[in-house]
Amino acid sequence: MRYIIKILVYTFIICLFTCKENNNNVLAVNEDKNRLSNDIENKVNNLLNKMTLEEKIGQMNQYNGFWDLTGPKPKEGAAAKKYEHLRKGYVGSMLNVRGVKEVMSVQKIAVEETRLGIPLIIGFDVIHGYETLSPIPLAESASWDLEAIKKSAAMAAEEAAAAGINWTFAPMVDVSRDARWGRVMEGAGEDTYLGSKIAVARVQGFQGEDLSSYKSLAACAKHFAAYGFAESGRDYNTADVGTSTLNNVILPPFKAAKEAGVRTFMNSFNELNGIPATGDKYLQRDVLKGQWNFNGFIVSDWGSITEMIAHGHAKDGKHAAELAVKAGSDMDMESYLYVEELAKLVKEGKVEEALITDAARRILRVKFELGLFDDPYKYLNEQREKEIIGHQKFHEASLDIATKSIVLLKNENNLLPLKKEGQNIAVIGALANDKTSPLGSWRIAAKDSTAVSVLEGLKNYQGNTIYYAKGADVSIGKQEFATEIEVNNNDKSGFEEAINVAKNKDAVIMVLGEHGYQSGEGRSRTQLGLPGVQQELLEAVYKVNKNIILVLNNGRPLAINWADKHIPSIIEAWQLGSQSGNAIAKILYGDYNPSAKLPMSFPRSVGQVPIYYNYKNTGRPTLPAPDVVFWSHYQDEANTPLYPFGHGLSYTNFKYETISVQNSYSTSGNVEVLIKLTNTGTLKGKEVVQLYIQDTYASVTRPVKELKGFQLVELEPGESKNITFTLTDKELGFYNNQGIYIVEPGDFKVFAGGSSNTVLESKFEIVK
Ligand code: BGC
Repeated sequence: MRYIIKILVYTFIICLFTCKENNNNVLAVNEDKNRLSNDIENKVNNLLNKMTLEEKIGQMNQYNGFWDLTGPKPKEGAAAKKYEHLRKGYVGSMLNVRGVKEVMSVQKIAVEETRLGIPLIIGFDVIHGYETLSPIPLAESASWDLEAIKKSAAMAAEEAAAAGINWTFAPMVDVSRDARWGRVMEGAGEDTYLGSKIAVARVQGFQGEDLSSYKSLAACAKHFAAYGFAESGRDYNTADVGTSTLNNVILPPFKAAKEAGVRTFMNSFNELNGIPATGDKYLQRDVLKGQWNFNGFIVSDWGSITEMIAHGHAKDGKHAAELAVKAGSDMDMESYLYVEELAKLVKEGKVEEALITDAARRILRVKFELGLFDDPYKYLNEQREKEIIGHQKFHEASLDIATKSIVLLKNENNLLPLKKEGQNIAVIGALANDKTSPLGSWRIAAKDSTAVSVLEGLKNYQGNTIYYAKGADVSIGKQEFATEIEVNNNDKSGFEEAINVAKNKDAVIMVLGEHGYQSGEGRSRTQLGLPGVQQELLEAVYKVNKNIILVLNNGRPLAINWADKHIPSIIEAWQLGSQSGNAIAKILYGDYNPSAKLPMSFPRSVGQVPIYYNYKNTGRPTLPAPDVVFWSHYQDEANTPLYPFGHGLSYTNFKYETISVQNSYSTSGNVEVLIKLTNTGTLKGKEVVQLYIQDTYASVTRPVKELKGFQLVELEPGESKNITFTLTDKELGFYNNQGIYIVEPGDFKVFAGGSSNTVLESKFEIVK
């Protein structure tokens, strides 16, 4: 007993010291950070004092570099001024310059030939990798694995930084509910809560602990705001959304990114409620720089300042520059209007110089934080570039997250996983041997034909005999940036061979979906079925062999009703990047037990779109009686999606046993929800346990369900776990129509399950 007491006393004393030491460490780190930021502020101020008006404006000017255009062609003559402006110190940033050699050639001019030698900040769309690509962001979001997502962003940053890049135009945090919009592939899907968590993970991954490390990039939360709410899913189209949707659905992921320390924002092409986002003072100055106290900088989107003329908001280029700078857009990407017009506007007294100084200050601050002033060539090491780009560790990380991103949509009679030996397997579809489409439309520095195809991935397993037939092409227009109209390839001459290959095989793997350039920017679509003659091919093969495993490769939710009805096994394998085929083979053979869940609802037909799980109830939400028409529904289709948000199966089975709520809520307490989950199957597996709430009546109506927590839980066969969620004010409130965050007393429901079609339900009350 004496010994035990002694040990307890010693532990207490040690703890006293270590806790104090830990606290001291935290204080020391904070002090360091404060000192550093004071130091940077002083340096920025000193530099600003030396700068002419034109040089400050120069910092606000960004030019496209040598690589492909990621927007419309610049106007004649503008590109010619690039070098002249660079030498004068009238360029603060360039985008689409990559590789140590290329970056060095422009950085040298900025540093060695301009009066003040201010280094450029080099931006690039490092969306899901640099040369080694990980899955498209929508696919990664399906992993619901925040650590893996963070790591993927960190890997992308390290590889890109080795190529001389300082700043990525990512993450895109636009919530979108419209699968017609081609850019859903670049975001985290339809949900604000999941989207906010992923925004944080990505920002932390890209920026790391220390922005000045040669492994990190400055991140950019884009597109501020409401770009994902383009009417009819047509890219760049008008967005018209009310206060409640703006504050509760669209803005939270941006706020989360800001709170995670994102250093830049990009505004947006669309107009929002009548004002182009680029000229929107409310969004940029009042909300972002005002209420949220953001001290980084905002870059326009490609040419979006000049586009305010076409929007019908600005009279001409000069007026557009005036509106944009007053609204808070700090840097002009590819409009050349700041460099042409701002000095005149200041001299005429139309724009205060203080606005220019503020924008330049923000940009210089980030350059200092990146360490560019300590050593402008710190990211420009050819040796490191050679060693790092394409490194095996990036491929390993890419394979890891790719397997975690694949969603098992359906698996009747346990057709999957496949046996590893003695099987005759047919592999059919143009995407089966496509080594480019898995790279997606933001392939950046990845070379075409470098992804592992499904066929290659399967052939790495040598126990089975594989037979391949292409069957039919995927429909596609011109395979370039600025894709033209989709051209359907209706050639069915390959059907016969495919049918013959499929006959008498143990299983048929059909790899169908969208070409890599059928989603992405400017690639909206009105049809959500399998493009071209792929549906016909699927049906023709089904006639001779019903043991089909459909592997979907696509950048958006597809409407695949027929397949869902007839095909026994379906996996959603998106565009998975460099290691695509290896990841798919691992899933098909059961070397990874699928754990991913859909981050967007899959519609039954395009007429249901936009379709999302967190809709509002109507006054007539349910069928009142069998023969009554007067309720909110379609006459020719169900209201429900084909596969709901959060859906995804495993090779094992999970049973949600019980849910209990520990306490009704008071302002000083939290609501604890306890869920018991059991693995009732025969394999070890991971489940994303999802928690939803409904605020059943409120001063501003709330959705039927809202995701408010999730946990990735791994269970051995037969194992049970109790999982706890704690709901606080942060989860229980909402923004009212005055933009104020409130938690209202009243009745709440709480739901749990393995998708938004939850299986357990309980309730609690908020009392005040
Ligand atoms: C896109 C942005 C992108 C920029 C630079 C624009 O067209 O909307 O998301 O970052 O081009 O490539």
